[in-house]
Amino acid sequence: MRICVIGAGFVGLATGVTFGKLGYEVVCCDIDKGRVKSVNSGTLPFYEPPLEKELRILVKKGSLAATVDTVAAVKASKFAFVCVQTPSLPSGRIDLRPAKTACGSIAKALKYSRDYIVVVMKSTVVPSTTDLFIRPILEKGSGKTAGRDFGLCMNPEFLQEGSALKDSMEPTRIIIGSLDRRSGDMLESLYAKIKSPRLRTDLRSAEMIKYASNTFLATKISYSNEVANMCVRLGIDSEPVLKAVGMDPRVGPLFLKPGVGFGGSCLPKDVRALKDRVRLEGYESRMLSTLLKMNDEQPREAIRLLENAIGDLGNKRIAVLGLAFKGGVDDVRETRAVPLITGLLAKRARVVAYDPMAMQNFIRLMPTIEYASSVSECMKGADGCIIQADWPQFRKLGKKEISLMRAPVIVDGRRCLDPATIKRAGGKYLGIGYGLQ
Ligand code: UDX
Repeated sequence: MRICVIGAGFVGLATGVTFGKLGYEVVCCDIDKGRVKSVNSGTLPFYEPPLEKELRILVKKGSLAATVDTVAAVKASKFAFVCVQTPSLPSGRIDLRPAKTACGSIAKALKYSRDYIVVVMKSTVVPSTTDLFIRPILEKGSGKTAGRDFGLCMNPEFLQEGSALKDSMEPTRIIIGSLDRRSGDMLESLYAKIKSPRLRTDLRSAEMIKYASNTFLATKISYSNEVANMCVRLGIDSEPVLKAVGMDPRVGPLFLKPGVGFGGSCLPKDVRALKDRVRLEGYESRMLSTLLKMNDEQPREAIRLLENAIGDLGNKRIAVLGLAFKGGVDDVRETRAVPLITGLLAKRARVVAYDPMAMQNFIRLMPTIEYASSVSECMKGADGCIIQADWPQFRKLGKKEISLMRAPVIVDGRRCLDPATIKRAGGKYLGIGYGLQ
């Protein structure tokens, strides 16, 4: 059976590779010829090594290919997964133009198909989008009726960058929102080989599940940041405090790590989009507004700690390690490195930055700061260092790197270092939520 995946980005390729590994024939569609070429040569357009390895195997076997011809690909498929991006507009609302284009092509294919094709929205869209925006495009463009002539489902993804394939092959849950029973049954049977809990819902609930999940994760992180900010002022280390909080099964241990805030292509965008969506219904979510404000302000906490230790930052050389939105990825979308470095520059610091994988992407965002080609080069002569992303190699910081600094002050913006190791290596350790001396 053939499955078509529209949008050869992070979600689309993780979805395509997953279905390929489950034994289906997969066609990935994208309007970007470069991307299509890259997929057909077994190369990912982003850094995600385990996914790339499996993509290469599937392409070689001939069970996954990419094309720019979405109409032909959908016509020859039983399922069409919409995995295009839904980026933020300046208002916080999501940009539905890529989804509109993708669904326009699907509609053309539906018009000439005799098959009952199931269209599955996987892109993150605010509640009611699939029913009130996507469905009319499909019905008008094809002259057919959803739920009768073709199927319509909403099937959110919960992938984390850095572990996309694992998250996709072993999802915590499979949410199947469907307009009609038949398409929901068909989608459920597509996932038959994956043994994760399933939940069947309507389209709107499935859309909301994604936003409710991501805003909860954002809340958990912001709560941790708030506890950490209080601990540091009270002379307490927040680490055992949050660990103990997470030992309560009602809370759970994950996503309780304080830092300089949440970034990435999903969490900030989804908080803004849900806030905007409910405002259209006359509801001002104070919680979502506060989350965004707290997250905007959190990088300042790292700057405050640094200033407390070394005084005025004017003309001081500050090393920033980690530019990606988190360690292990090359994605710089909404990375906290931007507000962090902007804040340092506003205080007239001289910033030198380094990231193992994300430097090329970051240079486009901030072309005028100084970049180093290694951790050591970055730290050489620095009056202070801030860790912005938790790359595993930063955890190995020791005497060698610290002795290169002019003043050995390390601000751990991700709580990924061991304070005792830094102290033993002659460094002064400061961390978000670390109130001990
Ligand atoms: C997120 C969701 O986790 C995923 O379920 C959804 O499908 C897409 O969005 P991702 O964007 O890969 O995934 O990032 P995630 O690992 O969630 O991290 C988001 C941000 O929060 C990063 O900047 C990270 O550093 C920060 N974070 C995460 C914390 O500050 N503390 C934590 O405890 C966890």
